[in-house]
Amino acid sequence: MNKPTVVSGIRPTGYLHLGNYFGAVQNFLRMQENYNCYFFIADIHSLTTHPTPENLQSGVRQVLAEYLACGIDPEKSTIFIQSDVPEITELYTFLNMNAYLGELERTTSFKDKARQQPENVNAGLLTYPVLMAADIIIHKAHFVPVGKDQEQNLEMTRKFAKRFNRMYKSDVFPIPKPFTFDGADLVKVPGLDGSGKMGKSEGNAINLYDDPKDIRKKVMRAVTDAGPTEKNSEKPEPVQNLFNLMKIVSDPAVVQQFDEAYVKCEIRYGDMKKQLAEDIVSFTAPIRERIVEILADDAYLAKVAKMGSEKARESAVATLKEVKDLIGFRKLF
Ligand code: ADP
Ligand code: TRP
Repeated sequence: MNKPTVVSGIRPTGYLHLGNYFGAVQNFLRMQENYNCYFFIADIHSLTTHPTPENLQSGVRQVLAEYLACGIDPEKSTIFIQSDVPEITELYTFLNMNAYLGELERTTSFKDKARQQPENVNAGLLTYPVLMAADIIIHKAHFVPVGKDQEQNLEMTRKFAKRFNRMYKSDVFPIPKPFTFDGADLVKVPGLDGSGKMGKSEGNAINLYDDPKDIRKKVMRAVTDAGPTEKNSEKPEPVQNLFNLMKIVSDPAVVQQFDEAYVKCEIRYGDMKKQLAEDIVSFTAPIRERIVEILADDAYLAKVAKMGSEKARESAVATLKEVKDLIGFRKLF
């Protein structure tokens, strides 16, 4: 039986952080055995923030090395760079003809970005979900492993895929679903600066590539409060975030121990942060070592990128041909 197809990507705008890992990459690793996986580096998407050529190149190399260091296996999964597959941008152009200004303007990620970079509200930001849809449906994906913050973008993909199918009376595109391995809710890894999610653009990220000293410093700086004064009280958001991150990286018994201390008003945030920092360090240190090794091996990186782009193009070319036939493009020569 054919394996279901999976597509997901990450923008090369910095180092992979714990949000990327637990929101996305962890599911990539779990899926690569039993699914037909395409994992890519969304370098075209990253142009919406105008990286310099140097930053773009180093970002792509870094994420590629980090994918490999995390354990994504180029023999099992197709790992590729978005710009190596020009069929994606061709499909994006076609999808743009059926994407409407109103719906694009209403997307939360567009509104957020327009607020964050008011001097650069470009058309690429507006049509970001259309390019994302092209990434996904060009491989006829059934599942997309992403974090909670991508839920709305993925809903747009589903809408564009359905719209294309309906318009051309076809079922060329499966309607892709968000995916978490155990059917749990999509993950949101909190930032440790009081509120919201961990993210590159939020400037609050703990990276897989950070050295232990930096990790300890970042965790010790996490926002908390003066501590509970009443037994069994509810945790305020910054404290809840600290617990949520601990739930993700630490042993359940350790979390329980701090939880009980909180309930009894005996918690010492300093101790909790020290424990959390050490648990993060034990998790990231071996990955960091592998990143360093892989980054030193240009020939290996080139080989993986070439192999991935060939496999990804094979699938993209086949879908694009079907799409162009459906739209009505006919060669006159
Ligand atoms: P960032 O948000 O740091 O710019 P990306 O937007 O490139 O990172 O995200 C790549 C993947 O990582 C997406 O699947 C996204 O949902 C996931 N992700 C990013 N931050 C988090 C987070 N804090 N919690 C859960 N998943 C996240
Ligand atoms: N928009 C995603 C993010 O910011 C990255 C992305 C681009 C993506 N294309 C994709 C994720 C296709 C999954 C599938 O995180």
